[in-house]
Amino acid sequence: MQQSGGDIVCRLEHVDKVYEGAVPTPALLDINLQVQRGEFLVVLGASGSGKTTLLNIIGLLDTPTSGKVWIAERNAEQMDEEERAALRSRYMGFVFQFHYLLPEFTVLENALLPCKIAGKQVEEQNRELVKELLHRVGLGDRLNYRPSQLSGGQQQRVAIVRALANNPELVLADEPTGNLDSKNGFAVFEMMRFMNRQTGTAFVVVTHDERLAQEADRVVVLEDGRIVKDMLQRPAQTHEL
Ligand SMILES: Nc1ncnc2c1ncn2[C@@H]1O[C@H](COP(=O)(O)OP(=O)(O)OP(=O)(O)O)[C@@H](O)[C@H]1O
Ligand SMILES: [Mg+2]
Repeated sequence: MQQSGGDIVCRLEHVDKVYEGAVPTPALLDINLQVQRGEFLVVLGASGSGKTTLLNIIGLLDTPTSGKVWIAERNAEQMDEEERAALRSRYMGFVFQFHYLLPEFTVLENALLPCKIAGKQVEEQNRELVKELLHRVGLGDRLNYRPSQLSGGQQQRVAIVRALANNPELVLADEPTGNLDSKNGFAVFEMMRFMNRQTGTAFVVVTHDERLAQEADRVVVLEDGRIVKDMLQRPAQTHEL
């Protein structure tokens, strides 16, 4: 279910992250970032620049050392673990470099997993949405296949549909095309762009591929934990399903 929450899906203010250890490692420094509803934002940056750390903080999988995080206009600091988990599962979707599909489940079952995790039984409404999304990404005739019977690009498309299964406001994707050749990578990226335009779900996509960045509404470049560029390429479009 989409939740109301204004036009800002996430906001970071003066966020620092230092990984503690024998030698403390600074990973993010004074990050100020706001993601609008329906926006398609690409995060570029060299290895070690803090991209995954940033997604983990937005995704409420990690907490900043200092600074403030708002998701759905709620202050993350004031949420307990249960609220964070609920917001993660209802408001956000995640796509990783390796798709982590469950081999013993079919395409349809895999894509429906977030609905199961969100509690209750899978509602007919979600099942229909997921089937429709699978059709739109060209997998309508593969609903009962197992992941091992699909190509790498097809598997990643299932993972993208899975991220959209709960009709989230925000999808966080960490190098979703990093494991694919350039042709399949581009097709998967185009799929996310298409889904963003169709559903109005905001996307934050981490990539190393500058070619893909040209397709984004906005590009943020990280260097040694700092935002060194924040370029608006075109205004976000919002279309509800
Ligand atoms: N759990 C951790 N403990 C200590 N340091 C960490 C931890 N995770 C990341 N770091 C450090 O924080 C910095 C940023 O790491 P991060 O994983 O966010 O980079 P990244 O931009 O995602 O890199 P890549 O493109 O290689 O995935 C790096 O210097 C890394 O060594
Ligand atoms: Mg990373």
